[in-house]
Amino acid sequence: MDPAAEEARHLGLRFQRGFLAGRRLSAFPWAELEKKLKSSSDALLLLDILQKTILHPLCMKYPPSVKYRRCFISELIKKHESIATEPLDELYDVLADILNKEESTTCYKSYLLPTGDSVTLSETVAIISQGTTGLVTWDAALYLAEWAIENSAIFSNRTILELGSGIGLTGIAICKTCNPKAYVFSDYHHCVLEQLRENIHLNGFVLESETGNHTKMQSQNQRTEVMDLQGPKITAAELDWDSVTKEQLSQLQVDVVIAADVVYDPQITSSLISVLQQLSASKTAGKPPEIYIAFTVRNPDTYHLFQTELGKVGIGWQVVPTHTKNLFLYDLHSNITLLKLLAKTL
Ligand SMILES: C[S@@+](CC[C@H](N)C(=O)[O-])C[C@H]1O[C@@H](n2cnc3c(N)ncnc32)[C@H](O)[C@@H]1O
Repeated sequence: MDPAAEEARHLGLRFQRGFLAGRRLSAFPWAELEKKLKSSSDALLLLDILQKTILHPLCMKYPPSVKYRRCFISELIKKHESIATEPLDELYDVLADILNKEESTTCYKSYLLPTGDSVTLSETVAIISQGTTGLVTWDAALYLAEWAIENSAIFSNRTILELGSGIGLTGIAICKTCNPKAYVFSDYHHCVLEQLRENIHLNGFVLESETGNHTKMQSQNQRTEVMDLQGPKITAAELDWDSVTKEQLSQLQVDVVIAADVVYDPQITSSLISVLQQLSASKTAGKPPEIYIAFTVRNPDTYHLFQTELGKVGIGWQVVPTHTKNLFLYDLHSNITLLKLLAKTL
């Protein structure tokens, strides 16, 4: 492929990743698109972007909000009009179609995985809704998923517990790419748990609590959903750091504990630390679990408080070196850190 065509293909893929993941429109490489359109003066690139975004099968099945699609196509039309005199029918057909659609209460975001598969999530548009931060995907969850995909041996054939899973991006990505034996998603907010369970289903997984029905379904129709039984055992547990007991935690028999963006509020730090302390004192096959916590350092005081509190209960930490491949789109300048916790007493 000649370099110009390769560049155009890459540009199209950047639009695709951003659009399917519902990235804010101002973060798209519009200036590069305009430059490319001016230099090539044909509309093939725009048609390619249309196919990779609004007309992509994932978008057809799990669309982002109508408003988002309308703004996106309007922007593409503007870019086309800035270089061409003739309108491009395909763009206007798509716009007309979107203008006829009613806004739905559910909108989706799809995150493309290196395997060619994707994680599709039903997400809310507001950062805080129903009184929780758990109904959107935070940057630390994307960072942790990228790191896990690059370090899949840590998760392969092991039992994983995720604290404060939110709506499930990290865990679903791990279940799809890292071959865990069992994955326990957890959270405490009932709306978050409901959305999380919906997202687990959306991605073709069956919850452990449903496998009874599932097995029945199987005997009626031997060929349905056999794939699901071969995947990890998945649970979505209600687990409140304020009330979970040591016994409940040790019963889970986990090999690895992870969490993303759970260090953001000094008020919840002490209950989180107490859970981490109990987990690091538990043993599975004679060994304590490995614990990894990813978070965006928004306020250094909160970060230091977390470290001080860890130190008080005898837990040390080391910063885990960052991974090499950036797969998802998030603010690369945001200060995200991944800590591996080290229980000093063990
Ligand atoms: C900022 S969100 C992060 C969600 C997800 N891990 C991500 O990064 O996208 C924090 C999550 O911690 C959960 N959480 C907060 N306090 C909790 C508690 N006491 N017990 C269990 N989960 C809690 C919230 O419900 C929410 O889902």
